[in-house]
Amino acid sequence: MTVHPPMLACTDLTVHYDNRSALRSVNVAIRGGEVTALLGPNGAGKSTLLKVLSGMISPSHGSATFEGAPLTGPHASITYVPQRSDVDWKFPISVLECTLLGLIRSRSRWAPFSRSDKEAAMAALHNVGMDHLAHAQIDALSGGQQQRVFLARALMNQGKALLLDEPFTGVDVPTQEMLVAILGRLKDSGTAIVYATHDLAQAAQTADHAILINGEVIADGPPSFVFTEDNLAKTFGGAIVSIESLRAVAR
Ligand SMILES: Nc1ncnc2c1ncn2[C@@H]1O[C@H](COP(=O)(O)OP(=O)(O)OP(=O)(O)O)[C@@H](O)[C@H]1O
Ligand SMILES: [Mg+2]
Repeated sequence: MTVHPPMLACTDLTVHYDNRSALRSVNVAIRGGEVTALLGPNGAGKSTLLKVLSGMISPSHGSATFEGAPLTGPHASITYVPQRSDVDWKFPISVLECTLLGLIRSRSRWAPFSRSDKEAAMAALHNVGMDHLAHAQIDALSGGQQQRVFLARALMNQGKALLLDEPFTGVDVPTQEMLVAILGRLKDSGTAIVYATHDLAQAAQTADHAILINGEVIADGPPSFVFTEDNLAKTFGGAIVSIESLRAVAR
């Protein structure tokens, strides 16, 4: 297996909202060609870390870098898929239009979408099994279908890093399998993939790298190394899973 230098990194990263810290002294390195799972309880700072890594929010202290350069805002090579609860689904937009918006960041100026843009969007929707609903309004879809459209939008951007906030939450097994297959293909092409999740077994099965956080990093490394009873108790505050069952599926 090829070992890549870090694509995204945080050094001594602290994030405050108002007077409260959401993340403290976080040091992580994310590599291309790897899937990294971010795990921790509600309020642990998973979404906050993904927003810092996508350049959407700035650290209060410390730094975040992309390919060795400080992140100063959203970056055309970093694609971010928000947590479903963070999205205004009432926005009056069709599935096709929503998918086309994935191209906006890579454009230097506004221009009408071309026929080939629309063909690319239809192909991305086909990839996630949503082309038949291309002309539906986004608010008329089920939660899992909306998640698929957001994935199609992300696939429009030929980025180097893909950050997904809870992409497996609330989607059915076929959608999870489709997502795993798509992430696998992107990983093989060298993309750095980071996703937040509450599903330890899913992470044990599909991630090369796991980061346990709860305001600070509790453990960081291959899932089989990181998922110990002690680390999970420190992260989640109790023995909530059978370590044996996780070991059985861990890569
Ligand atoms: N915009 C904000 N303003 C103030 N506090 C915030 C804001 N966003 C997050 N927080 C706080 O920061 C902490 C970390 O939140 P974050 O959303 O990163 O957690 P999370 O791990 O993604 O949780 P969940 O599993 O519920 O999605 C929480 O205490 C939260 O209340
Ligand atoms: Mg979150």
